Amino acid sequence: MTDQAPPAYSGPRRVLSGVQPSGALHLGNYLGALVKFARLQHEVETFIFVADMHAITVWQDPKLLAGQVREITAAYLASGLDPKVATIFPQSAVPQHAELAWIFNCVARLGWLDRMTQFKEKSGKHKERSSVGLYTYPVLQAADILLYKATEVPVGDDQRQHLELTRDVAAKFNHDFEVPGFFPLPEALTQGPGARIMSLRDGSAKMSKSDPSDNSRLNLLDDADAIAQKIRKAKTDPEPLPATLEELKDRPEAENLVGVYAALDGRTSEAVLAEFAGQGFGAFKPRLADLAVAKLGPVSEEMRRLMADPGEIDRVLADGAERARAAAAPILAEVRKIVGFWGA
Ligand code: TRP
Repeated sequence: MTDQAPPAYSGPRRVLSGVQPSGALHLGNYLGALVKFARLQHEVETFIFVADMHAITVWQDPKLLAGQVREITAAYLASGLDPKVATIFPQSAVPQHAELAWIFNCVARLGWLDRMTQFKEKSGKHKERSSVGLYTYPVLQAADILLYKATEVPVGDDQRQHLELTRDVAAKFNHDFEVPGFFPLPEALTQGPGARIMSLRDGSAKMSKSDPSDNSRLNLLDDADAIAQKIRKAKTDPEPLPATLEELKDRPEAENLVGVYAALDGRTSEAVLAEFAGQGFGAFKPRLADLAVAKLGPVSEEMRRLMADPGEIDRVLADGAERARAAAAPILAEVRKIVGFWGA
């Protein structure tokens, strides 16, 4: 007998992702995550949550946390996520995440977590003063995903390593407990328009909520004046726009602004260049600002409307949490049996 590969997971496709409620959302989150979620919900069963349990791996003001959860939810809804189609919920309202995370803490190996680059970045020089939760953060993330047997996870490039760890946890669980194909080995969906929106001040750095310069990003709650001003101030070069993407290779800021235009307008960068070839940024930037205001204005307006009456958001979250708990329950019940817990 030769060694056979274990049977692959054969369940249905499911999409799951989450955003942490820590800091304002920006254009990169919108194009790289929220718009993608809204598109995927019509193709595959979709679970989208607010990762408040991940947020508290670093200090969060308890007076602000629930409000931040509502703000992310408002952004989800304003970006087109439909609570009748997708299941939208706060992570902490589904206690099964924590329960599965504990079991996975006993599956994942210290060596795996030691390799996680995000922990190294976030813990900085004083690793011993970081919370234990920050260290096991990727294990909770694996639980988030596998609790629903999600097969696809739309995330930024920076989450690839956490998805690898999720696959390692799934494979080791399936192997150690001799339940081949029980958990899927989920894939990161990192491609597509808006996958990599860069800082407006530095074309080599990702647009980020932790950048100290607010001019580096367009926040979803920026008003039209702020958007126009940030685009006017965006770093560029003196050359006119070329006709091909190839010629933008060594001009990261120019390439980024063309990419932002393309993603906002639902076109390719090539199509944008075909229109603007030969024009300088003096002409391009006002057009980009108009487009950004036209696309982001309605999103921030809807977010403000929703946040003015949190009742609607809270109903969405309560209903989503109930549906998420119901989806998680049978899977966790099986896991408890597989592990051999009393009464399972
Ligand atoms: N770690 C993710 C981030 O920073 C957030 C997250 C937590 C997540 N759990 C997840 C994303 C599960 C996708 C799936 O952005």
